[in-house]
Amino acid sequence: MAGRIPQHFIDDLLSRIDIVDVVSSRIELKRAGNNHKACCPFHGEKTPSFTVSQNKQFYHCFGCGVNGSAIGFLMEYDGLHFVDAIETLAEMLGVEVPREQSGSKFNNPQAATDNRELFQLMETVAVHYVNQLKNSQHAVEYLTKRGLSGSTAKRFRIGYAPDGYDNLDKTFSAQRKALETTGMLAKNDRGNVYARFRDRIMFPIRDRRGRVIGFGGRVLEKQEPKYLNSPETLLFHKSKELYGLYESRRDAQDSGYALIVEGYMDVVALAEAGIGNAMATLGTSPNQHHCETLFRIVPRIVFCFDGDRAGREAAWRAAQAALPCLRDGRDAHFLFLPDGEDPDSLVANEGRQGFEKRLNETRVAIIDYLFEHVGRDIDTSELGGKARLAEQMTPLLMQMPEGIYRNICLQRLENIVGFPIDPAQMTSGSSKRTNAETLPTMRGNRSGAGMGTSNHRQENRRDREPQKLSIMRHTILLLLNHPELASHCSSEEFTISEHLQGAQLLVAMLETCKQHTYRNSAQVLEYFRDTQHEAVLQKLMLIDLMPDGSELEEAQAQEQFRHCLQQIHNKSIAGSVTQLPSSQRTGLLSVTRKKPVV
Ligand code: GTP
Ligand code: MN
Repeated sequence: MAGRIPQHFIDDLLSRIDIVDVVSSRIELKRAGNNHKACCPFHGEKTPSFTVSQNKQFYHCFGCGVNGSAIGFLMEYDGLHFVDAIETLAEMLGVEVPREQSGSKFNNPQAATDNRELFQLMETVAVHYVNQLKNSQHAVEYLTKRGLSGSTAKRFRIGYAPDGYDNLDKTFSAQRKALETTGMLAKNDRGNVYARFRDRIMFPIRDRRGRVIGFGGRVLEKQEPKYLNSPETLLFHKSKELYGLYESRRDAQDSGYALIVEGYMDVVALAEAGIGNAMATLGTSPNQHHCETLFRIVPRIVFCFDGDRAGREAAWRAAQAALPCLRDGRDAHFLFLPDGEDPDSLVANEGRQGFEKRLNETRVAIIDYLFEHVGRDIDTSELGGKARLAEQMTPLLMQMPEGIYRNICLQRLENIVGFPIDPAQMTSGSSKRTNAETLPTMRGNRSGAGMGTSNHRQENRRDREPQKLSIMRHTILLLLNHPELASHCSSEEFTISEHLQGAQLLVAMLETCKQHTYRNSAQVLEYFRDTQHEAVLQKLMLIDLMPDGSELEEAQAQEQFRHCLQQIHNKSIAGSVTQLPSSQRTGLLSVTRKKPVV
């Protein structure tokens, strides 16, 4: 993996990009006074409470509380990781994302550049296969026979790899090495290199950003293996990807849920029938990584499985993978299909309406499924059975993150067994419940959630309550709204005692805003992302300096800021001289000497 993205690059990006452009490239914004408004894309509403502030470079929904910078918006809206959001913004500006160099050979700054070439190559291979499909009557007939229209084939960029071990040679003669790296060429025992996919219908597998990272290929006649996938490569990790994630994401967001199926053709046939929110794992059961990826873009997952033994086993694994991800506001359901049917065959027989009827009437909530699955062979009319159910269910339920949803589930268990459950006494208790939060993500070990997750949403709503700010908070708020104030205050003038609550943050902000000449709130927020100060700043972002929501004039802001600093100074001096014991008198921070605490 490449090294870290330098902070100065992120600062620069946020000073050059305009959040209004970013948001309005995704949703329609209307100007309203100083701000822009829209109906919130993150929760259903009829009157707009989603606002974007150009001055602060910040968005905020008064309805559901989501908020953040342009980076945060892309993370939420496009379901991107932090690094991907940065890269998307960089692409909008047409600049490359630099990487910090470090000693490790894995942090090779070259790596990002090399991957870009591989992505580019995969893109041209996908185009090549699409062109080949047009030339192959045999392949087109196969797809027609399976009921696919041209528009669906186009949506998924379905192509065809012609027969012949050399089917890539002519077009890609200069890129043999890269084709090997991406798994498009394979090597046999004798060292001969040949095209991995031959005479197959080709399904390009795309990552979250729509880049082609691998392929699945299906035979046209009865042959083995029926499907062939790209091998694990630099770009492609089978167990992490979902076929259709990119193509179906928007429909999933619109419908509020993603339908997880087992096969390529299920995804494609459902889309053909008008059900565009399906995605498939690539021959594996859904795992926790899949679930986290999905819950970044939708609040609900519906897992669709065959009713046979293999399907039931996969469902059990999927349930266990989903449990640690079920924060409040998220949910999962299971839809079991009749034996011998898959979504493809069902929509062919029953059409969209039939399938949706089945979905609405026969899907099972994950919790009902768990109680049913675990309790199947347990007789809870006996005391022993009750104990056994409690023993088996409690550790499962404790895998859920703390919250109302988990409490309700525990309550239900208590109602069945008739005695209170003490989770502390149950074996694999709470230590497991943070599994979801410790999943590695792109940047350090921050939790998978971006700003504005359901937890944040609830907190933020509370923060809208009017509140009286301490002088320290008011100062920080001023600086957050007007980072340029930092360059107007001289270090000799004011003393800030580190014993005052919030002093660390204020000093760190003064340092940072001055050093980096920050000009908007978003830059400050992003600088403190993943630090101990992030939560405080996010809360302060939601408070208006002026009661009517208007902007403070530059001169007014300067005056208020000096006034605030003077008060803090007075407090600091008074505290250190008269109130604090002499041993603590050292705690005077001069604005420039203290290093940022991050
Ligand atoms: P159709 O027969 O085309 O309708 O395919 P399907 O999508 O119904 O596939 P099936 O239910 O047989 O398999 C589901 C998924 O398992 C496929 O989409 C593949 O991802 C995977 N799969 C199936 N057969 C093979 C195989 O032979 N090799 C590999 N690697 N994966 C397979
Ligand atoms: Mn099928």
